[in-house]
Amino acid sequence: MASHAPNLDQIAFNCIGHRGACGYAPENTLSSFELAIAMGCPWIELDVYHIDGELLVIHDDTLDRTTNGRGYVMDQSVAYLRSLDAGDGQQIPTLTEVIELIDHRAGINVELKGPDTGEAVVSLIHSYQTMGWHADEFLLSSFQHQELERVRTLDQELKLGALFGRATDNLVEKAQQLDAYAINLGKRLAQKQLIDKAHEAGLRVFVYTVNVAEDIAQMLRLNVDGVFTNYPDRIFTLIGEV
Ligand code: G3P
Ligand code: MG
Repeated sequence: MASHAPNLDQIAFNCIGHRGACGYAPENTLSSFELAIAMGCPWIELDVYHIDGELLVIHDDTLDRTTNGRGYVMDQSVAYLRSLDAGDGQQIPTLTEVIELIDHRAGINVELKGPDTGEAVVSLIHSYQTMGWHADEFLLSSFQHQELERVRTLDQELKLGALFGRATDNLVEKAQQLDAYAINLGKRLAQKQLIDKAHEAGLRVFVYTVNVAEDIAQMLRLNVDGVFTNYPDRIFTLIGEV
């Protein structure tokens, strides 16, 4: 068993399993993360909400699409959320369960999706660091840049990914102000000029969500540092062909 997840700095083109391998398994479930690792992903991505002191792994702010529950995630008790079926009879996982499952076999990109997640995630990671996990086995990302600012005030070592879904002025400068390691871009934003500028600024560039061969090939041409994908096998097939 590896004692350290593959280091982001040493992966030329990263295949990051988006919500696990959610093209093939219920998203953000333990089976989806296990499948992503089985398919060869060196890193996986997941989304977290912070409810009553617990970090739960789910993407939407409502339950309807991915579970048999109803209503807003933040309005529910942990007991109710944990009683739901998130696909194939699985519970909505806690972040702790995912870290235990991964067990250093992959790096973990925790996307801070819900409100007030940064501090709780840092606290959990710190507790795992006392058990032999390294800061660089995690990447913390968010569209809510104030959460990343909060993380940085609490921890100067953890790698940060500044998420951008829409075009914005001074994107690279904003990421630099956050002391980010990477910019994580929506596919439409992945243009050569921006990618080159980010690289010149010392930032890595990861792009979501890249699922079809044409887009994968384009990202390789653009020299991005990795992609989030629902179909990890497609990335490895294509990389093997170039
Ligand atoms: O972190 C990359 C990607 O997951 C961001 O968008 O909506 O899939 O969480 P979303
Ligand atoms: Mg996400």
